[in-house]
Amino acid sequence: MLTKMMAISHMIGNTPLIKLEHEHINLFCKLEYNNLMGSVKVRPAFYILQEAIKRGEITQETTVIESSSGNFAIALATLCKQLGIKFIPVIDPNINPVYENLLRVFAHEVVKVTDRDETGGFLLTRIQTVNRLLNETKNSFWTNQYGNPDSARAHYFGLGAEIADSFETLDYAFIGVSSGGTITGISQRLKERYPNIKIIAVDTAGSVIFGQEPQKRYIPGIGSSMRPDILKGAIIDEVVHVSEEDTVEACYQLYAEHGIFAGGSSGTSYWAIKNYFKDQKHVVKPNVVFLCPDGGMPYVNTVYNQEWVQWLHQQKHSFVGN
Ligand SMILES: Cc1ncc(COP(=O)(O)O)c(C=O)c1O
Repeated sequence: MLTKMMAISHMIGNTPLIKLEHEHINLFCKLEYNNLMGSVKVRPAFYILQEAIKRGEITQETTVIESSSGNFAIALATLCKQLGIKFIPVIDPNINPVYENLLRVFAHEVVKVTDRDETGGFLLTRIQTVNRLLNETKNSFWTNQYGNPDSARAHYFGLGAEIADSFETLDYAFIGVSSGGTITGISQRLKERYPNIKIIAVDTAGSVIFGQEPQKRYIPGIGSSMRPDILKGAIIDEVVHVSEEDTVEACYQLYAEHGIFAGGSSGTSYWAIKNYFKDQKHVVKPNVVFLCPDGGMPYVNTVYNQEWVQWLHQQKHSFVGN
């Protein structure tokens, strides 16, 4: 099984790091959508499976089960297909239809929850469903992106190391948070290499990760209905919340200003950076990095669709004045 993993490993990592024009800072962006299956999430998917295979926890008879609203499921489905093992993703209605169609083709079976949890999201319902499936399924393995330390290690050894190898000095990293694996692994690696770096966690308004009141959220990939366990290991200096409408606006700006056609959470980080540095003038421009965790194509019916954007606006403002 490890030989099969190695055969596809060259399509993961070593993503482009590009410099973007900015008045006050040296801004760099790591294009994680250049990974296999188009997102950063293939990195933890690969590492978690590889380590579990090494420990004998995954064999040819295993069924892998995971709660994911998109990118992680697509990555796992592809890797499990290569390994010739079964994969069951637990998804929710926020998944984009293209991903759902792909999973129905790639995965052994797709389980879709429809009930919102008490926070207004779907995550807690998805986790309950994962636990039920684990009990019902023989030889099942939960990759558990919210709590598996290998998710953070993947980023410590992979993405974090790639960034650390790219800069002599680095002053800020803005990292979008959902399961927390990316920020945990990257922050550990970058704080070792650059002790004075500021790690800024970027979250979406209405996500409960950093103690905000829950609200309905419509853009997948960033934010969460719970605080993931894995975040206990993250070294975070500041948290910035960005509204979903500002996320959409920033996606359009990334495209218009830099030709980057990226997914929702890329816009969330871009907005956070522009806002953070808008009034700051430095004698020496700081080096700032952020990620484009996925590309824009999966968002053509949402973020990049004007009707949907108007609908989002209505959802956000329908209670004003009542
Ligand atoms: C598009 C996108 N951005 C950001 C993230 C956040 O990464 P993490 O789950 O490691 O916090 C994810 C996670 O699924 C994602 O799909």
